Amino acid sequence: MSELSVDHLLGIKYLNKKDIELIFETADHFKEVINRSIKKVPTLRDITIANIFFENSTRTRLSFELAEKRLSADVVNFSAAQSSVKKGETLIDTVNNILSMKVDMVVMRHPNPGAGIFLSKHVKAAIVNAGDGAHEHPTQALLDSFSIREKLGDVGGKNVVIVGDILHSRVALSNIFALKLQGANVKVCGPRTLIPKHIESLGVTVETDLRKALQWCDVANMLRVQNERMDISYFPSTREYTQQFGVNKELLDSLDKQIVIMHPGPINRGVEITSDVADSDQSIILHQVENGVAVRMAVLYLLASKIK
Ligand code: CP
Repeated sequence: MSELSVDHLLGIKYLNKKDIELIFETADHFKEVINRSIKKVPTLRDITIANIFFENSTRTRLSFELAEKRLSADVVNFSAAQSSVKKGETLIDTVNNILSMKVDMVVMRHPNPGAGIFLSKHVKAAIVNAGDGAHEHPTQALLDSFSIREKLGDVGGKNVVIVGDILHSRVALSNIFALKLQGANVKVCGPRTLIPKHIESLGVTVETDLRKALQWCDVANMLRVQNERMDISYFPSTREYTQQFGVNKELLDSLDKQIVIMHPGPINRGVEITSDVADSDQSIILHQVENGVAVRMAVLYLLASKIK
């Protein structure tokens, strides 16, 4: 029987190509399940999962909760804002207290890069990283690649450009790892100030001219500028950013091919993407969200099957 090479999902960096293929084959099955009239299966009936979120989330949190409920897991939700973390309790104490209530898996979003890795070394539970600061967001990258595979048949050999705030983006890093593992060609595009030095060492190329990048690609993944992670200005104004790195219908129509537009959300309409592009037939943004549930079901199922 096939199984994942890892006991936790801490980042795409720790997966291999076979892991990704296994997750996608499993997600294909779960996608079929969640499109049935009875969307629930008893697969994780004996498993309890805690979703612990120290940072805001709409899509990831709801998607994990729905994935867990579709698999019949017992689910507890923890939000740092209403918890004893506010009284000074440490991350390990918080999680060990949750685990003493017989919890098997922890899905965690945390503002600190590496928080999931740290936790996995100190507690007895399978850990799923739901986004750790500017480090990794592995399930987002998996659902992004799954959506490209669904739309274009394969990820290998496709030209994918990731546009925007690469420096502060966990989505960018996880996508680069996932796309390269599957044999895609990857470019990053954005203001020089928002592109990490030496990013070429990850096997990607850099383009600062958005029109050239779009003309080259099959898929453009548009990222949000992460103002909440910036303590200085990285570009002169939002207006100038949009003029140089925002995608609009006129720009897309001027290309000599039809490319696929993606966005992990939340969207800043009118900044990195206009509404007529976000809501167009070229956009697969809502398909990404839909696929997130099936992909997260696959990840949870495959990790749960490794719990001793
Ligand atoms: N894409 C994503 O992580 O969105 P949320 O922050 O709403 O979870």
